[in-house]
Amino acid sequence: MFGNKALKSTLLVSVLALAGLTLSFQANAACNLVSTVDGKPLAIKAVDTDTPEAKQFLETCVNPYTKLYAADAEAAKKGKREYNYNNCTGCHGGKLEGVMAPSLRKDGGTGAFDTKWVYAKNATDKGMFESIAGGTPGASGGTMFIWHNQLPGKTGDGLSTDQILKAIAYIRLNYKGDGEKTWLK
Ligand code: HEC
Repeated sequence: MFGNKALKSTLLVSVLALAGLTLSFQANAACNLVSTVDGKPLAIKAVDTDTPEAKQFLETCVNPYTKLYAADAEAAKKGKREYNYNNCTGCHGGKLEGVMAPSLRKDGGTGAFDTKWVYAKNATDKGMFESIAGGTPGASGGTMFIWHNQLPGKTGDGLSTDQILKAIAYIRLNYKGDGEKTWLK
């Protein structure tokens, strides 16, 4: 009888331990970002100064600003500011029409990539974040710099996770290309 009881409590402890393990896995769930250049992991971590939106993205790969801007023009002005103030306009144009870099509106132009994404993964917010944060290998003929402030080789002081997410949501808002806006799903 004693043996049976001991077995039961051992079992109980194992079940509890397993549950604890599952819980801690969930708590550590992360959006595993990889470089568009070489597919290696991008070492971007949540930091104390991150907004709740940035932290949510780093855990879930969902950019909360994308849906917010689609519904709230006032909020979307913050995305426009990130895009304009960080000189994205210099290469992609003030109306995202593409100047010396591909159009981000994807509604036409003279370049091969003015109607489609240079990298198919940029159709997802995770993919586009990776391309802006960690730079690109130049499939269109030019490359994007590394923008994230936690990565070596960053442009100037670099941009925070939150700034990049806002710029992405603004780019999504201005998309005029074909097909479904999968990022709103
Ligand atoms: C010096 C010029 C330059 C600047 C400044 C620049 N970009 Fe780019 N960007 C490029 C080029 C060139 C590409 C194409 C990259 C490639 O082919 O690998 C690109 C690609 C992109 C793409 C992917 C486009 C696609 O069709 O897949 C996004 C998104 C993007 N840039 C966003 C931004 C944002 C946001 C900023 C400002 C923070 C910015 N860019 C600033 C030159 C620039």
